Amino acid sequence: MNARSAPVMLVTDLAVEVAETGAPILKGVSFELRAGEIFALVGESGSGKSVTSLAAMRLLPGALRITGGAVRVGDEDLFDLSEAAMQTVRGARVAMIFQNAMSALNPVQTAGEQVAETLRLHTDLKGAALRQRVVQLFAEVGIQDADARYAFYPHQLSGGQQQRVMIAMALACEPEHPDRR
Ligand SMILES: Nc1ncnc2c1ncn2[C@@H]1O[C@H](COP(=O)(O)OP(=O)(O)O)[C@@H](O)[C@H]1O
Ligand SMILES: [Mg+2]
Repeated sequence: MNARSAPVMLVTDLAVEVAETGAPILKGVSFELRAGEIFALVGESGSGKSVTSLAAMRLLPGALRITGGAVRVGDEDLFDLSEAAMQTVRGARVAMIFQNAMSALNPVQTAGEQVAETLRLHTDLKGAALRQRVVQLFAEVGIQDADARYAFYPHQLSGGQQQRVMIAMALACEPEHPDRR
């Protein structure tokens, strides 16, 4: 960990409100993340942890609106990017592991295929090498019998295994981490 390195992610004075009523949800939220750091945002239920994370990736539901602040990832100000540019940031540079795996996973696509799809989007891997990388990721996140579970549908996995598939998906494209510099 290098305390002097520039932040990987810098959130400054983030503000979110309810679009229709203007009721404030977040005000003046600021924090920074440096390479190799684990940062935990802690707070009581309903205090705004999920809204903060969703806003930072510009994934807020339509009912909520960002009214101020900035989110920098490396040299880019995410609130200045087009939606198309944002799509290359999500998954490739910043990844999100959603709380409810069952609603985030596609129920009619196998676990392996879903991770393969992320890799296809962001890397040149295909065919046997692509499948092998998915199985390797499954093993890395502690999914037993990784090779066989490639073909399992989400409902055939336990809650913990579903969560691990989400983690595999988030790690698939190796989001910004210090070893890559
Ligand atoms: N779509 C929405 N419309 C109105 N208020 C919302 C919406 N989503 C979340 N909120 C409100 O924003 C606040 C923060 O919620 P959230 O970030 O989900 O909390 P938590 O810290 O538990 O993750 C809560 O008071 C919640 O009621
Ligand atoms: Mg939450």
